Amino acid sequence: MRSVTKDNITDVFMGYLSKDTDPRMREIMGSLVRHLHDFARETNLTHNEWRAGIAFLEGCAAVESADRHEFVLASDVLGLSSLVDMLHSSPEATSSSVLGPFHVSGAPALPFGGDMKRHYGGPVLLTEGVIRDVEGNPIAGAELDIWQTAPNGMYASQDEEQDTYSFHGLMTVGDDGRYAFTTVKPVEYTVPSDGPVGDILRACGRHPWRPSHLHFIVKAPGYRSLVTEIFPDDDPYLDQDTVFGVRDDLVMTYVERPASEFPDGMELSGKITKPFLHVNFDVTLARD
Ligand code: BEZ
Ligand code: FE
Repeated sequence: MRSVTKDNITDVFMGYLSKDTDPRMREIMGSLVRHLHDFARETNLTHNEWRAGIAFLEGCAAVESADRHEFVLASDVLGLSSLVDMLHSSPEATSSSVLGPFHVSGAPALPFGGDMKRHYGGPVLLTEGVIRDVEGNPIAGAELDIWQTAPNGMYASQDEEQDTYSFHGLMTVGDDGRYAFTTVKPVEYTVPSDGPVGDILRACGRHPWRPSHLHFIVKAPGYRSLVTEIFPDDDPYLDQDTVFGVRDDLVMTYVERPASEFPDGMELSGKITKPFLHVNFDVTLARD
């Protein structure tokens, strides 16, 4: 079509796609462009606003590196990462939640009962639970990849003071599906806000905080891998997570218990002299 108008441009775009275009590509590009065109028409987007959008994308590209994933962060704070997660999580399984950019793979093994915090101080948190299938049977040999920030609110990959796998651990469960480890109670922290995504947050009057959380990737052969995290129910940012990661079944009570109730068979058994926090988080995995 020669005469392109503001009303027919979306159809003209669709007409430009070759008839051999992969059907899923046609569906995704068609829907994306239709929404983009509708967005421009609906807001009567100006040249300056269009230029600001392009400058935002260029700014993301300029700061993007192996350790800084500004485009993923943009998707996170817009709620897109969480929405894609929710669209594809199994209703029978534990909810999934955002991976975030700070997981370092290849963590050293953390034995059952191990202490992930090592020499770091702070409130001791005993985390334990069972990895089960949807029928409630323990999944022997499931693997948990666990990570969190240090008490200064920084992940190992952001902080020169920490070694590569600081606050990372890989635990394999036995026949009973049980895991248990100690750490320090995670703290709330801000997502990186010194780049273009931070500018968007400020322009929208939004803060960059996430409620405190402990991340897990849980895997077992024959089951769908689960990327998730748990949050304490008293966190001030629970209802305003800047990346929309909170789900009801991931909010846990961290119960304070006297030192005398600290269990045997853990790395810190006999060494706990003050009250500690305890959380039980059972995980359900769906079949592949
Ligand atoms: C995180 O929880 O590590 C995270 C998630 C999304 C963006 C930034 C950080
Ligand atoms: Fe995190």
